Amino acid sequence: MITVTVHASKEYDVLIGPKLLEQSGERALQLFKAGKTAVITDDKVDTLYAKTLCDSLEKSGFYVCKKVFPNGEKIKTPENAIEIVDFLAENRFTRSDVVFALGGGTVGDLSGFAASIYLRGIKLVQVPTTLLAAVDSSVGGKTAVNLKAGKNLAGSFYQPDLVLCDTNTLQSLPEGVFRDGCSEVIKYGVIKSRSLFDELKKDIKCNLEEIIGECVRIKSDIVAVDEQDRGVRQLLNFGHTIGHAIERFSNFSVPHGEAVAIGMVASARAAYKKGYCSRDVYEEIYELIKRYRLPVSTDIKAEQLLDPALSDKKREEAYISLVVPEYIGEAVTKKVSVDGLSEFIRLGLNE
Ligand code: GLY
Repeated sequence: MITVTVHASKEYDVLIGPKLLEQSGERALQLFKAGKTAVITDDKVDTLYAKTLCDSLEKSGFYVCKKVFPNGEKIKTPENAIEIVDFLAENRFTRSDVVFALGGGTVGDLSGFAASIYLRGIKLVQVPTTLLAAVDSSVGGKTAVNLKAGKNLAGSFYQPDLVLCDTNTLQSLPEGVFRDGCSEVIKYGVIKSRSLFDELKKDIKCNLEEIIGECVRIKSDIVAVDEQDRGVRQLLNFGHTIGHAIERFSNFSVPHGEAVAIGMVASARAAYKKGYCSRDVYEEIYELIKRYRLPVSTDIKAEQLLDPALSDKKREEAYISLVVPEYIGEAVTKKVSVDGLSEFIRLGLNE
């Protein structure tokens, strides 16, 4: 098992290894008194893993109640966050009781947001069951719901008390869902680690635990210096401005990792055309993303993405911060105007 300690406003461990669901009760008892727990999950994950988690918590003396949402990004609404808050209130949860967010990024973001507003903050354990959630959304404290005007527009920075990443849950992921998470893993290689990028040219599944650990270490180092996303943390959004716009334009029919993959290729292509990096850098990124059978292009037109891209949270007054690679393992942010963003998307999407 690998342990990464995140040194944010709250210090907590991210545990990565097999059979952590079975051990969740004992692990939780090391941090919390045996009070109430609410397991929040979706219907797909519920049938696969909720019983193992709930049994372990009950065996360690916790009272467990469970709330199950349908699977999919569409559940990430303010109404559902309030539904969780009402559920906690009906069950008389106090600040020392614990929310367990069991599932992928959608469940993690929604439950984390609800945990952050109930009684102005209740204990939270993230239990990621997808690769995407394991390497990104479960760590670092970003929680959010989507608004009609855009993705993740209402949220909070709310660090969990513990992250339990049971790698056995990742073995049984459908191929497409696993591949979707590879997109975020590639992102870490591009922005911060040439050696991780090269490692990914081999079969990721041969060294999965160590690779997740490396991604979490990179994220943890970034969050330790910029928890509130004012500077270096924005590098984690490589590919995301275009990616989020694709998700939104497609009404979330394009999954997050696939949209980010297209966004990373487009950003690297635009960066090369603008002279921020060499053609070799763009081609290496393109090849690795293709190797993981992630999409490298979209039928959506550049003009159609400008509007959804403008609702990006990285917008400050008239400027948007875009992340571009300079080398593999080194990325920087560039501030662009609305016209600059429009040019960037056009250069990125057109061959
Ligand atoms: N997912 C990007 C971040 O946590 O900052």
